Amino acid sequence: MPADGGNDKQRQLDQYRVREDGTRYTTDQGTGVEDTDNSLSVGDRGPTLLEDFHLREKITRFDHERIPERVVHARGSGAYGEFQVYESLSELTCADFLSDPSLVTPTFVRFSTVAGERGSSDTVRDVRGFATKFYTRQGNYDLVGNNFPVFPIQDGIKFLDFVHSVKPEPRNQIPQAQSAHDTLWDFVQLQPETMHFIMWLMSDRSIPRSYRMMQGFGVHTFRFVNAQGKGTFVKFHWRPKLGTYSLVWDEVLRLQGNDPDFNRRDLWDTIERGDFPEYELCVQLVAEEDEHKFDFDLLDSSKIIPEEEVPLRPIGTMVLNRNPQNFFAETEQVAFCTANIVPGIDFTNDPLLQARNFSYLDTQITRLGGPNHQQIPINRPIAPVHNDHRDGFHQHMIHDSDTAYSKNSIGGGCPATAADTGNMEGVFRHYQEQVSGEVIRRRSPSFKDHYSQATLFWNSMAGWEKTHIVNAFLFELGHVERRSIKEKVVERLVNVDGDLARQVAQGLGFPPPDATVPNHGRSSPALSMDDQPRSVAT
Ligand code: HEM
Repeated sequence: MPADGGNDKQRQLDQYRVREDGTRYTTDQGTGVEDTDNSLSVGDRGPTLLEDFHLREKITRFDHERIPERVVHARGSGAYGEFQVYESLSELTCADFLSDPSLVTPTFVRFSTVAGERGSSDTVRDVRGFATKFYTRQGNYDLVGNNFPVFPIQDGIKFLDFVHSVKPEPRNQIPQAQSAHDTLWDFVQLQPETMHFIMWLMSDRSIPRSYRMMQGFGVHTFRFVNAQGKGTFVKFHWRPKLGTYSLVWDEVLRLQGNDPDFNRRDLWDTIERGDFPEYELCVQLVAEEDEHKFDFDLLDSSKIIPEEEVPLRPIGTMVLNRNPQNFFAETEQVAFCTANIVPGIDFTNDPLLQARNFSYLDTQITRLGGPNHQQIPINRPIAPVHNDHRDGFHQHMIHDSDTAYSKNSIGGGCPATAADTGNMEGVFRHYQEQVSGEVIRRRSPSFKDHYSQATLFWNSMAGWEKTHIVNAFLFELGHVERRSIKEKVVERLVNVDGDLARQVAQGLGFPPPDATVPNHGRSSPALSMDDQPRSVAT
């Protein structure tokens, strides 16, 4: 396999590209069309004839152009890129794309907002998705992250509830504005595990200036596994080489009217002019034996591992260097899934991650019309695919074998597994974790600490960042109709920081809260944007 892996995906995609050369208009069956402007009729003023198959086909094709948008993250923008690791990480992981510094791995990235619909504005206050598909020689690896390192819920069983609270209300689809919402704030006041996430949402992190200037986080703790089967916990971070920058709220309000495509346009234009965005992939590593040395649970996605406790280790760079040629074919049809992993990277028992592993493929079976969406060009691995999966809607392969089952002694139909041959090379083997316990619906006690990291975030902010956070609370809560919800949110904020709660209460015209605040006392310079490298901000 050549080291120019960046071209392997491109070459594969090129087989599917079609450019109309303008020579001959045909039907979908390849039959030449006489006239595509006038339907077949009887005389000058007579009825249109059903017999006009070109008319019928043209209308039918138009009628079925739309597919369902993603249930979340519907609004997005994509780009192709290449990833290269700095040095071999083979002592930590047997993932081939992380073990060979000469290897260039093709990638496709989709940035997105979460709550808005496909045609909504880019520059809203919201989380941003940062999903990366690595087309590795060992199969597709999807790192499906966000630009916040924490999530509002700790267990995927609440995802439906959270998303229903964020989306417009069912009666009237109002409001389209994501966070200025009675239902969201009702969810927040009733589910204090949202508090750390809410601090990020009210900060300038939720209004990134550009996708080129935005961090990305894998959020969950994952596991590296090396060739000897040894595991190491890992958190993934993308750091933009340009530094992390946000818009200010006034710009946000104006841009939503002036240019709803602001972030999409910026990404497209800079790649078109060869000014390629770059992101450094960093990891936080925790030895298996240190799993319990923190005052939070590594399986809790509402918590970060502070960088003061586990520093970031840069491991490689991704450059986004090519725009898609067809938005629908590539950016809309791309299907990310946290369960798409390769040897050397494994899951942990994070209950949010486990639910995600089910959800993505499941929803894509509806969104992309069946189980064969892996065969759509953008989703196809560059690694060869061999198995006994057959048929289904939109099957594109003509499988040339007499049988399709395993095990099989007829016709050479069935591909061999490692269990058959004993050859473990390139084979995914689940990490052999020891687990035991009762079957319960509960997590370790530190999952219930909903405030100390929210306070850590607040304490880490520079003065101007704190002002922006207070103003964001006042704007968003200012749109909430029910006073009781706002009062409860202020009560929650008392547990984060008394000063914050007092400022929000005062701004809302409420009496000052009775606040003796546990100041958890920690702060982290890495959380403030004051600490970011100052480079070109265009
Ligand atoms: C879509 C991130 C939690 C279900 C997405 C996308 C991203 C993302 C980036 C957009 C993918 C794209 O560009 O196509 C995250 C992160 C999470 C999280 C970082 C938590 C750490 C969850 C949970 C569930 C879920 C808990 C369900 C239990 C979905 C679904 C989609 C989606 C159904 C739409 C997928 C599609 O239609 O292709 N998520 N998500 N997510 N997410 Fe999540």
